[in-house]
Amino acid sequence: MAVTDLGELQRRAAERAAARAGGTDRLRGHIVCDGLVRIFKTEGVEVVALQGLDLVVDRGELLAIVGASGSGKSTMLNILSGLDVPTAGIAQVAGFDLLTLTAKRRLRYRRKVVGFVWQQTGRNLLPYLTARENVELPMSLVGRANRKRAMELLEMVGVAHCAGRRPDQMSGGEQQRTAVAVAVANDPEVLFADEPTGELDEATAADVFGALRTINAELGVTIVIVTHDHTVADQVRRTVAIRDGRTASEVRRTARTGADGLEEIVSEEYAVLDRTGRMQLPANFVDALTLKDRVKLTLEQDHVQVRPGDE
Ligand SMILES: Nc1ncnc2c1ncn2[C@@H]1O[C@H](COP(=O)(O)OP(=O)(O)OP(=O)(O)O)[C@@H](O)[C@H]1O
Ligand SMILES: [Mg+2]
Repeated sequence: MAVTDLGELQRRAAERAAARAGGTDRLRGHIVCDGLVRIFKTEGVEVVALQGLDLVVDRGELLAIVGASGSGKSTMLNILSGLDVPTAGIAQVAGFDLLTLTAKRRLRYRRKVVGFVWQQTGRNLLPYLTARENVELPMSLVGRANRKRAMELLEMVGVAHCAGRRPDQMSGGEQQRTAVAVAVANDPEVLFADEPTGELDEATAADVFGALRTINAELGVTIVIVTHDHTVADQVRRTVAIRDGRTASEVRRTARTGADGLEEIVSEEYAVLDRTGRMQLPANFVDALTLKDRVKLTLEQDHVQVRPGDE
């Protein structure tokens, strides 16, 4: 995949998103999580899956979320897509407050405001419908099936040739790209994808990421992708890492014009600082200096020093 066109794709996505929002001043905070907590209780045991997670995603952004198994990624996506309700904190998407939604508004939210792509290819498509019929189905649920639009969407994600095929007549990658078309059939503002390439090989996964990028650029849909696939970091501008139910760090990629006049992509990693000034030290830093229990902080002119506490 050509990386140098990343800047151009971002500009297009931002333009489309601004057009949808009614001006660039309304671009910020399309998705807002603040101090988000989710506690599961099973047989008297409490599991704190999210322990004060903060995240802001701009309208029109394409964001990747990475993190170890059990770090809370799916828990967060299930809350943001309206399938689950948080224990405490703030969760807002496109102006919908997910803590106080009535059942009726929750249904409307799930049908019209958000789209979802699951990891299991079998969960995204109905097996006895063709690709085109699968895309038309969510449209007909809100009373406006549109064959022409369905074909346009299939074309956009590069699977127009599969329009008349059922899922069992398509490859895994073709099924997932069709799933992306299904997820945006009702013109949602936000698309969530939980490990959409988890069952695919690397080359096929790149096609699915390509489809998500196209949808982001062409429709201005805000997209959040949860993935184990570290190559995804090359495909998006911002990758957020979740650790133990909190956002721990993020990698930002920006297009810059180098000394030779050519565009180059620069990646930089940041730790996330929450409102109360807390941050998480990377595990390898902690191990390298065997930091434990308490550390000494010193304020320098332009940085803060962290040293082992027991000397
Ligand atoms: N319904 C549930 N009941 C009890 N515990 C749960 C439930 N769902 C998730 N958990 C727990 O919450 C924590 C976070 O789980 P989650 O599924 O969000 O992780 P994840 O980051 O998506 O992991 P993976 O990469 O394996 O999909 C885990 O400890 C998990 O066991
Ligand atoms: Mg998960």
